[in-house]
Amino acid sequence: MKKLHPVLPAARERALIDNDAYLAMYQQSVEDPEGFWTEQAGRLDWFKPFSRVKDVSWDADDLHVRWFDDGVLNACYNCVDRHLETRGDQTAILWEGDDPARDEAITYRQLHSRVSRMANVLKELGVVKGDRVTLYMPMIPEAAIAMLACARIGAAHSVVFGGFSPDALAGRIVDCESKLVITADEGLRGGRKVPLKANVDAAKSRPGVMDHLESVLVVRNTDAGVPMQDGVDHWLHEREADVADDCPCEPMGAEDPLFILYTSGSTGKPKGVLHTTGGYLLYAAYTHEIVFDYQDGDIYWCTADVGWITGHSYIVYGPLANGAITMMFEGVPNYPDYSRFWQVVDKHQVNICYTAPTAIRALMREGEGPVKATSRQSLRLLGSVGEPINPEAWEWYYNVVGEGRCPIVDTWWQTETGGIMISPLPGATDLKPGSATRPLPGIKPALLDADGNTLEGEAEGLLVITDSWPGQMRTVYGDHARFVKTYFSAFRNRYFTGDGCRRDKDGYYWITGRVDDVLNISGHRMGTAEVESALVAHKAVAEAAVVGYPHDIKGQGIYVYVTLNAGIEPTEELRAELRQWVRKEIGPIATPDLIQWAPGLPKTRSGKIMRRILRKIAENEYGNLGDTSTLADPDVVDDLIANRLNR
Ligand code: WTA
Repeated sequence: MKKLHPVLPAARERALIDNDAYLAMYQQSVEDPEGFWTEQAGRLDWFKPFSRVKDVSWDADDLHVRWFDDGVLNACYNCVDRHLETRGDQTAILWEGDDPARDEAITYRQLHSRVSRMANVLKELGVVKGDRVTLYMPMIPEAAIAMLACARIGAAHSVVFGGFSPDALAGRIVDCESKLVITADEGLRGGRKVPLKANVDAAKSRPGVMDHLESVLVVRNTDAGVPMQDGVDHWLHEREADVADDCPCEPMGAEDPLFILYTSGSTGKPKGVLHTTGGYLLYAAYTHEIVFDYQDGDIYWCTADVGWITGHSYIVYGPLANGAITMMFEGVPNYPDYSRFWQVVDKHQVNICYTAPTAIRALMREGEGPVKATSRQSLRLLGSVGEPINPEAWEWYYNVVGEGRCPIVDTWWQTETGGIMISPLPGATDLKPGSATRPLPGIKPALLDADGNTLEGEAEGLLVITDSWPGQMRTVYGDHARFVKTYFSAFRNRYFTGDGCRRDKDGYYWITGRVDDVLNISGHRMGTAEVESALVAHKAVAEAAVVGYPHDIKGQGIYVYVTLNAGIEPTEELRAELRQWVRKEIGPIATPDLIQWAPGLPKTRSGKIMRRILRKIAENEYGNLGDTSTLADPDVVDDLIANRLNR
């Protein structure tokens, strides 16, 4: 029996939105979407107001998504400048270093001057409105400052997670034709150094990169003596020394690009998800306020990395648009020890903590001791994002970390959605562990069967969204056809999320996970196709198939079946080499957990790999493989079962 946790009285008293207000708001958003979103758009400062709210067609032949499109604004202005008068001396970014002895509080006024100076440096290096700039940064304030500096001058940023390899970085620079990369000499995580500048140097030598890349702007972080290439590499501190402290905000159309963020799909290389200025910013600000019940002075901490959408929407844009105090953490949950998260909460008196199930499970494994060693009295609200949270981890988070005092908002959303879509509101929603509960006002989800029929009431099916919302992605950068195909070809006039989902009798949504070939490893998206193409690039590998399997800490682990080229011996050394190879090709998050040698892979007579079977074997559920009669060579399956690795 799943437990119900009714709304906590303290949360209801404080919150701006109780259940009646939620229901009324939801109703309004359905009956009069344009009126609803016009009201929400009042959260932002517009240089020129919009006259058209929504111009959207989800028809595959004429797919376009435009919101507020004749309005003019600037995202950086909304996140920084407009707060100067009312809260110039309030902390904007509270930074906590990997080393517990290092921290920094940056006020809105200081942020304004640092962003303006970096923006002026970018301009001096030739960046103009409409350009793309790639960021490859550690979790230091300059990461947020660089994003805002790009927004200020109208350049779209493309943040590449600092854990990605030089090849992955190079591919993303080339795809969006970046003129400039902003990086740091090194990053620091869990006491270890991350050679960011060296990786950028390696990326420079990859095909095509220097056709676009003109300069690399380097932040001095660890003071490592990195080589600087004349005329290409520039230290930020040197260039900043003689630029002005002010830089006007470029007036941007609401539909001008704000950023590109690459994310994994079920096929091919990662796609550049494009978000634009007005709709995205409004949606990030709206959801940040209502989901976290953010009120002036709250100290808010999202533990994500800025390399992911969660960092974009809920460390930088949403909180800063709301004039919040947003914390940025350079480190990891277990350094110097497993108490770190809660030490940070006590040190900075954090009120709201938003993290991922994988971190919760890893901390849970260490027992209650490291949690109990801290006070956590400042905590008022807990959040979860990135993957389904299992009820055990949910209860532990609620009872041990939150001591039953803090609601948990389990927020379902995607890089593509720009912000949270389905989530409890702390003052309004009774909680059920493991359920993301109900859609936010303005969001219309539905469940479909495989034929596209809408399922009513209690049901399980494919999760789609039936109407546009301002935070929706606008296109795949440089490949609009892929945008249409990926999200709008499965079902007519519906946005297909790629997730399976169940709705219970109370109308609560329970996300069951991806139904496509996208893995979710520790809350990070990884395409099976990407890992497979990395593997087959190794000279020993003839063929590879990658599937996910349940993993205690990571949610999903990477299970790989490898067929070696004739004459190659399967050895432990080779296994280690292949793991290392994938790390190098993509990055540590793509490291295979289990590699099984497969003399052959189960294929249909037409040569298609039957992943369903490989998934079952990896899940150790080989007893029920379903129909194998269409296999070209059924014996292959017996061998794979006999040698399976996840027992
Ligand atoms: C999964 C991260 C269950 C889901 C913001 C989605 C979740 C994918 C949840 C998007 C949640 C995210 N419960 N599943 N609360 N949040 N997911 O683009 O499968 O990195 O499609 O965005 O993560 O991952 P992405």
